[in-house]
Order: sequence, then C-alpha cells, then structure tokens
Amino acid sequence: MVQRREMGQHVVLSISLPTQVTPVTTAIPPTMNAFVLTGHGGLEALEFHEDWPTPEPADHEVLIKVGACGLNNTDVNTRTGWYSKTVSEATTGAAYDTVGEEDPSWGGAPITFPRIQGADTVGQVVACGSAADQSLLGKRVLVDCWLRDWQDPLNKNNTGYFGSECNGGFAQYTTAHWKNVGAINSALTDAELATFSCSYTTAEGMLERAEVAAGDTVLVTGASGGVGSAAVQLARRRGARVVALASEAKHASVKSLGADAVLPRNPENLAAALQESIGADTVSVVVDIVGGDYFGSVIDVLERGGRYTCSGAIAGPIVELDLRTFYLRDLTFTGSTVIPPTIFTSLIGYIEQNEVKPMLAASYPLAQLHEAQQAFIDKNHTGNIVVVP
Ligand SMILES: NC(=O)c1ccc[n+]([C@@H]2O[C@H](COP(=O)([O-])OP(=O)(O)OC[C@H]3O[C@@H](n4cnc5c(N)ncnc54)[C@H](OP(=O)(O)O)[C@@H]3O)[C@@H](O)[C@H]2O)c1
Repeated sequence: MVQRREMGQHVVLSISLPTQVTPVTTAIPPTMNAFVLTGHGGLEALEFHEDWPTPEPADHEVLIKVGACGLNNTDVNTRTGWYSKTVSEATTGAAYDTVGEEDPSWGGAPITFPRIQGADTVGQVVACGSAADQSLLGKRVLVDCWLRDWQDPLNKNNTGYFGSECNGGFAQYTTAHWKNVGAINSALTDAELATFSCSYTTAEGMLERAEVAAGDTVLVTGASGGVGSAAVQLARRRGARVVALASEAKHASVKSLGADAVLPRNPENLAAALQESIGADTVSVVVDIVGGDYFGSVIDVLERGGRYTCSGAIAGPIVELDLRTFYLRDLTFTGSTVIPPTIFTSLIGYIEQNEVKPMLAASYPLAQLHEAQQAFIDKNHTGNIVVVP
C-alpha cells in the first residue's frame, strides 16, 4: 500500500511493507522534469517540462527513479509517424505531411498524447504498489520494454511497448508493472546499462527466430547500430561466425565487438566481398534491420536452406523480392518483434556475467533530448546514445 502525504515542496511516499522487508521512505517531489511528446511531428513535438506530475505507482507497479534512458528508433518512428502505411521511405527523423493522430504506432493502433517516450530505462525502485513484489524496493533495475498481459504473457496479440503504449523513461521518474523490471547486479554505469534492453532483446529475439547456433555464418546489416552491435555480440556468443556490414568509419569499433569480418555498408558485389573476407560466397543466416534497396543483395547470398530474419527497415520498408530465389533455394523468412519474456531474463544474466559489453556512444542531459536525438538520427556513432535526467 502506498500512502502519499504533502511535506512542503515534496510528497513523501510511505510504503507499508511485509515485516520481513526493511521499509524505505524516499522524498519524492510532486513534479518532475520530463520530455513529453505532444503529437506526431518534428523534434519540436517533443517538449521539455520542469513541472510534470510525478507518477504514482498503481497496486501492481513500482516507481522508478530514472538513472538513464537509451534512445531508440521506435521513439523516432513514433514521433514522426513512420509506422503509417502512407510512409514508404527510410527513417530520417523528419515529420511527414501524410501522418495524422489517427495513424498507428508500431503495434497497429494510434498512441495517445501527451506521451513520455523512452524505452531503455534504468534506475532505482523507490516505491512499490501494494500488489508489487516488495523485495524490489531499493533495487537497481532494468525495464523490460514489452508490456504484457501477465495472466497470458506469451500472447503476442496483447502487448505494448514501454514509452509507446505507456509513459517511459524520458523523465526523472516512471512507473512499470513490477514484472516488467529486472533487478541487476553490475559494475556498469546507469548510462551503460541503458544501452541494452531494447536492442539486445530485439537482437536475441532475431537469433532465436533464425535458430542461430555454432556452425552458422551470420551476416548482420546495420552492425554499427544498437540492434546490429547487439546481434554481432550475441551471435558470436552462440559460437556463430559473424560478417558485419557497416559504414567504413565505424569498422574498427564493429570489429572490436568480435565480428569475424566487417564489410562496407552496401558492397557492390556482396558474394565477392564475402569470398574475399571469409573464403565463402554465401552465409547461412541474414540478420537484417536495414531493408531498403539492398535487400535483394543480402537475400542473394543466402545458401540453400538459409534463414532470413528481420526486425527493422531503417533504409526503407518496401523491398523487391524475387520469389524464385525464396522458394527455389528453400529459404525461411521470419519477422521478429514481440519476444518471449525469458529473453529479457537471459539478457540480465549475460550482462551480469559480462558476456556482452555496452557500446555507449554518448550521454546527454535529459534537457538536451533534442540534441541527443538529432545525433542519434545523424548516425555518426556506434552503439547507442542515452539521456540522463
Ligand atoms: N522490431 C523491433 O522490436 C525493433 C526493436 C528495435 C529496433 N527496431 C528497428 O530496427 C532498426 C534498427 O534499429 P537500431 O536501434 O539498431 O538503429 P540504429 O542504432 O540507428 O542503427 C541502424 C544502423 O543501420 C545502418 N544503416 C544502413 N542503412 C541506413 C540508412 N539508410 N539510414 C540509416 N542507417 C542506416 C547504420 O549503420 P552504418 O552507418 O554503419 O551503415 C546505423 O548504425 C530500426 O528500423 C528500428 O526501428 C525494431
């Protein structure tokens, strides 16, 4: 049970806990700094407020004091309305004239404004609702971005995304269902931890869908980005050989992730580039988050029985496919978005065991979210960019 009482400028949340749990009382201000998305549009649709009401946890929720929050294309694409079927171009971060408030977010339904975005949230639990796990109080946690029906957690049709279908982490405080947070024990900073949740669970979900294992050769597109850099590390973790595609300025950093070979973004003759770098002109798996005009080239280098898995289309969602390649070569295509909750739990273990390393490119104060998101869109970085309240 959370009780709220006014104390001068602050509200004190007193939490009644079971006797075996040490009670914690934390001064929580009634208002907070938050970046609020007011509608679809350019960066100006994101407004900074210093007096936004601090959320209160519902019975099944915890209140998190945000330590850092990573940026993601979901935030950019939701802001611009890129998920609308009226849009067919690459992600640019610019507003679209054709998009209105009734256009859908990633899941197919419109989102409601105002909305605090920010999926990749890391922080400390400072209050628990009465039905939440009280042992989380005081714990350092990562948020699992997937909102689920916790009575039926594998039901993909009843899901939402943190910072999209509910408020997220671009604020000093946020709330989450207690089953959506994972306590973590790590020497990494909050900013470093905020690079993991969305990208690494997405990448691991793709590797699961494509059943990547030792013996596979995996081609990763967009390998310098959040999901791509995660896919390189997680595929290597499974014992696969990894060929990464990335802009040449980022080759050294992508190589440092463990990629066996790094090729330019769009080699003119991909089969020849593969032959030269790994001694074979085909791969068994393509992990693609880029799509666009180069799609046909990555499909063409899949071996017979090869697997293609896709989680994004930053270079454009409309692609050309020669169906003869697809069926005559016995290919398997999987789309991957909603992942099972076990993937988040596994990720916490990988981080705690230092099996994956963060690629923190830059950290900005929350108040500079516009600058941070512009840098994220400009794509001169490897890994991810975070904001710190
Ligand atoms: N389905 C899901 O659950 C899910 C979850 C997370 C992300 N996504 C999607 O996956 C995609 C990638 O996400 P991310 O977070 O990895 O993105 P990111 O960090 O922005 O990285 C994308 C990378 O793609 C490369 N790229 C190639 N062609 C590009 C182009 N035309 N424009 C921009 N970049 C291009 C860039 O690397 P180089 O410059 O080195 O080529 C860039 O680093 C996005 O579309 C995102 O919406 C989906």
